[in-house]
Amino acid sequence: MSFDEFWTESGLSTLTQRAFAERLGEYRDAPSPLDPFVLPSPPIALHRPKNALTKLFAKRRSERGFGTGPLRARDLGAVLAALAETAPGRRSYPSAGGLTAVRAYPILLDADHALSGRITRYDPRTHALQDIAPCPEWTGLAALVGAAPDSPAPQLVVVLVLADIELFAKYGPRAGRFGLVEAGAAAQSLALAVADRGLGGYLLGGAADRELLAALGLAPEQARLAVTFACGRTSPDVGVR
Ligand SMILES: Cc1cc2nc3c(=O)[nH]c(=O)nc-3n(C[C@H](O)[C@H](O)[C@H](O)COP(=O)(O)O)c2cc1C
Repeated sequence: MSFDEFWTESGLSTLTQRAFAERLGEYRDAPSPLDPFVLPSPPIALHRPKNALTKLFAKRRSERGFGTGPLRARDLGAVLAALAETAPGRRSYPSAGGLTAVRAYPILLDADHALSGRITRYDPRTHALQDIAPCPEWTGLAALVGAAPDSPAPQLVVVLVLADIELFAKYGPRAGRFGLVEAGAAAQSLALAVADRGLGGYLLGGAADRELLAALGLAPEQARLAVTFACGRTSPDVGVR
């Protein structure tokens, strides 16, 4: 099976999302009492660091309840800065060959920004947003991103896509792995920025690929849908902090 066949096989649409949800509903955890990877030799302890980074790691968690009111401009800027150029050609996350296949499309459901209510493109060089189209109401967007229809509305959904044509030209089929590694690393940068600001967020694994790409103004030949990350203000009843 080629990477493109794997990609098609693992794709979802608003028609197949239901079957995917049913599959998850039928799955029963079968936790094994013994981890088969643990070795018989005695574990030898390591120094445990206590620093800002370990505190931030401990704050990161998936949060699905959101408060109301717009995402503050400073928070929006801080979250998306996780994807900004840190120096010419550099990012907070690694990228195979420095080809930076990951592209970010923030959907501003409710934010203190001139493009609130719009689907946008994030420019990592200038740390700025460009307008694409109006953003659907959360109920419509929830269906596209695979969130429960009655789930609380986040203020921001960041969609990471892979523009990986150059990556495949350079690395051949192995590029498929490299793009996904880059997208995962970028998602962790986002998640840590969200945790650092005391915000909440979670990854959505069940987005409808083509339909969400179309909402971003992208054709499936141009980009692959890699990550959908919903985030925003934490709800007072969530008790994150
Ligand atoms: C690839 C991927 C897809 C995920 N998809 C969903 C999702 O569709 N809905 C959801 O509520 N959480 C989703 N999650 C979040 C996981 O449920 C969460 O990371 C896990 O329960 C561990 O909790 P923690 O993130 O707070 O440590 C996803 C996580 C990953 C890595």
